[in-house]
Amino acid sequence: MRDALQRCRECPLGYLATQGVAGEGALRPALMLVGEVPGDQEDLQGHPFVGPAGQLLFRAIDSLGWPREALFVTNAVKHFKFELRGKRRIHKTPSQREATACLHWLEDEIGLVEPRAAIALGATAARSLLHRSVAVTREHGRWLRREDDLRDLRDPHDLRVLVTLHPSALLRMRGEEREAAYEQWLGDLRNATEIVDAWAR
Ligand code: URA
Repeated sequence: MRDALQRCRECPLGYLATQGVAGEGALRPALMLVGEVPGDQEDLQGHPFVGPAGQLLFRAIDSLGWPREALFVTNAVKHFKFELRGKRRIHKTPSQREATACLHWLEDEIGLVEPRAAIALGATAARSLLHRSVAVTREHGRWLRREDDLRDLRDPHDLRVLVTLHPSALLRMRGEEREAAYEQWLGDLRNATEIVDAWAR
């Protein structure tokens, strides 16, 4: 799948990014954590969540005591989207069309990896996982279910999805606002601890 992803040109992003970034982690994990799109570092290194957002995510994961072997991390969209400002490549949010074009890669990953549950980090991931738009500020911390979609017979299981903020949203905040949002985010993520614990038993 990783090789096939490198050839993907189903949307324009594949022409501009350095490489496609597939998910990584355990097979049959407790949780699949789904972000939006690889960032600058992920695009250059070819691995998901290795930049600043990933550092914050793994800080939270470590403080929750979740073993890394219980996790698989990936993104809704597999190629970096950016705009050039001088020499800097500034992240851009993928369009709905781009996310839809990329959806089959995520579905394939779910089928191959078979996570017990998923965490949607932000609205793009929530939309791709749940096949509908989700107001993350209202629904964060809740477990949602994919709606039955009879057209998608590949849907391997009735995947439960916990929705929360993307770590980049926290990185854009400052001071006390960021600290409060971080605690709330940890609280959301903690709602998945019982799945990690059950997986580990
Ligand atoms: N943001 C994401 O959504 N995914 C990454 O891999 C890195 C940053």
